[in-house]
Amino acid sequence: MAILDLIKNRVSSKSFIDKEIDEIILNNILEAGRLAPSAKNRQPWRFISISDPGVKKILLDACFGAETIKTADKIIAVCTTNINYNMPNGQPAHVFDLSVATAFMMMQAEHEGVGSCIVTTYNEELIRELLTVPFSMRVFSLLALGYTAVDKSNEIFKERKSLKDVHNKEHW
Ligand SMILES: Cc1cc2nc3c(=O)[nH]c(=O)nc-3n(C[C@H](O)[C@H](O)[C@H](O)COP(=O)(O)O)c2cc1C
Repeated sequence: MAILDLIKNRVSSKSFIDKEIDEIILNNILEAGRLAPSAKNRQPWRFISISDPGVKKILLDACFGAETIKTADKIIAVCTTNINYNMPNGQPAHVFDLSVATAFMMMQAEHEGVGSCIVTTYNEELIRELLTVPFSMRVFSLLALGYTAVDKSNEIFKERKSLKDVHNKEHW
């Protein structure tokens, strides 16, 4: 599928069906994150994939019982390894870097027919403890993955601002 069609097709999946994601597919998704660009190529990320039911149960509590986490087959905790580097424009690099890596993983998931949803509604301290994330590092976000029962045969309506509202030529 053409990239723009993949982008148009993708939606955040809020619940998943009971179907396992193949290890090869999961690795392809992780590969997409690994190969993402980052400021100064510092690659300040650690991806922790979670599928163990016991770990998922505790994770679910830390996510306040979110259906997305409850039904996800796999969850990738997107963690930082370095939050101290600022880009030449003065803005923190890790926010940009981990967002790009997450977007790459989401698009690979879409290509593989796997649904995804970024989850940022959680108690970070509980997750840090659960996943033994070192003290100076952060759990940036969770990426819930699974198969969905959503019928994508009809065109998906994207609630987005129009291009003319978000794009100007030559000046603001
Ligand atoms: C930075 C970020 C944080 C998000 N956090 C959550 C979240 O905590 N829980 C959730 O269900 N969805 C979360 N989402 C998904 C957004 O709600 C969703 O992307 C947005 O409503 C647009 O819908 P779409 O992804 O289906 O196009 C998050 C998305 C982004 C980009």
